[in-house]
Amino acid sequence: MFFKQIKYRGDNFSYVVADEASRDAAVVDPSFNVDAIILLLKEKKFNLKYIINTHGHLDHTAGNEELKSAFHSKIVAHRLSRLNQDISVADDDTIRLGAIAIRVIHTPGHTPDSICLLVDGKLLTGDTLFVGECGRTDLAGGSAKDMYNSLLHRIAKLDDSIEVYPGHDYGPSPNSTIAREKQTNYTLQNRTLQQFIEFVQTL
Ligand SMILES: [Fe+2]
Repeated sequence: MFFKQIKYRGDNFSYVVADEASRDAAVVDPSFNVDAIILLLKEKKFNLKYIINTHGHLDHTAGNEELKSAFHSKIVAHRLSRLNQDISVADDDTIRLGAIAIRVIHTPGHTPDSICLLVDGKLLTGDTLFVGECGRTDLAGGSAKDMYNSLLHRIAKLDDSIEVYPGHDYGPSPNSTIAREKQTNYTLQNRTLQQFIEFVQTL
């Protein structure tokens, strides 16, 4: 599997995932990195089948339409998203890219349509989990209760060896692992739901 984390303009991370045999590719969150993404896709001769958004915030979806018209790709988002989407996905759906399977994990909290994507031992976490931090829950549609369930009942239950690739470069390193985040990320520490709700109000 080809996998690349891209940060070209701003602090948003975009990701290119591709099946090297079929050359089929997906971009996760084009953001402001489209120039670098197009250069890479052309250089590698990848067919961009899917543009997948971890959620509908503009800093992640910027570049969707430019990439779509350049490669005739389909925009994929959670069914609760208000985005202009060609394919709607839900929890536990699989997006297939040649021989590669990308699993959708619905992780609301930052927004109702937030998803994480699990592919080949890598978890792309959008604005749900950052290295050392979690996403805000005080924006429109945010929910501390949903974030608690997504972080503690979904993400923290994944295998320790899974690598974490966030939607922004906010932490001390551009990527991490579930094990490291469970040890060091203060938002993933053991709390009851009530303690977590009080905790995020202090952030
Ligand atoms: Fe966001």
